[in-house]
Amino acid sequence: MLIARTLPDLRAATADLRVRADALALVPTMGALHEGHGALVAAGVASGAATVASIFVNPLQFAPTEDLARYPRDEAGDLAKLEAWGCALAWLPDVATMYPAGGATTIVPEGPAEGWEGAARPGHFRGVATVVAKLFGQVGAEAAYFGEKDWQQLQVVRRMAADLHLPVAVIGIPTVREADGLARSSRNRYLTEAERARAPALHRALSRAATALASGAAPASTLGAERAALERDGFAVDYLALVDGPSLRAIEAVRPGARLIAAARLGSVRLLDNVAAG
Ligand code: PAF
Repeated sequence: MLIARTLPDLRAATADLRVRADALALVPTMGALHEGHGALVAAGVASGAATVASIFVNPLQFAPTEDLARYPRDEAGDLAKLEAWGCALAWLPDVATMYPAGGATTIVPEGPAEGWEGAARPGHFRGVATVVAKLFGQVGAEAAYFGEKDWQQLQVVRRMAADLHLPVAVIGIPTVREADGLARSSRNRYLTEAERARAPALHRALSRAATALASGAAPASTLGAERAALERDGFAVDYLALVDGPSLRAIEAVRPGARLIAAARLGSVRLLDNVAAG
């Protein structure tokens, strides 16, 4: 596996890969890699593309109140995983490379970026859209892979790539779950043992709601009952909502492509999850 830490090294490495492969795939990450990232790399590798994974903890997507310094970092462990998963190149830029002095341009997404995570974390999707656009420009991959676990992020990136006519296919990969249903996430490591035992209730609530809606139950009462059940289980529910999948607009009735999305806190850990509802 090649490793690049500067833009000239990245250009040389991607040129080298293009001699050997017909296409490049990009998997953007912030490190602390787990099986969810493994599924993204596996999809890139399975497509036949030379797969490039970036590791960059992006300061622009953290609010001043969020602890950027606390974000888990394990470069050696991450590189070993990427190599084992068949990644061709790891791109590890530093902050000065991504945000050079004098930079004056960011991307402010609207539409699917509004509400939900966009409301809970003001400025977050500006940071995500800006860094992802930079990564797309730097790597020049034909396809980029994102987890459906961060459903709203996936829609924001898709919309941004379409709106800016970026020549990259944005591909969503289904959420990878633990055996008990908990969505894999770098944040899970912060759950206490007791919280970890309760955490799968979030996915159970979403799954029950999806089943109920599929058999004709009314969305408002279904979501109200599941919200109350989560609160009884000790979750502080931020939102549990039925939305149109691509636009993230709240909807009153199930339709093709609808999604149930949720964010809820257990202790200090904010868990996100979503399931198909249409
Ligand atoms: O999902 C993430 O890890 C990040 O938001 C991303 C897409 C790598 C951008 O920093």
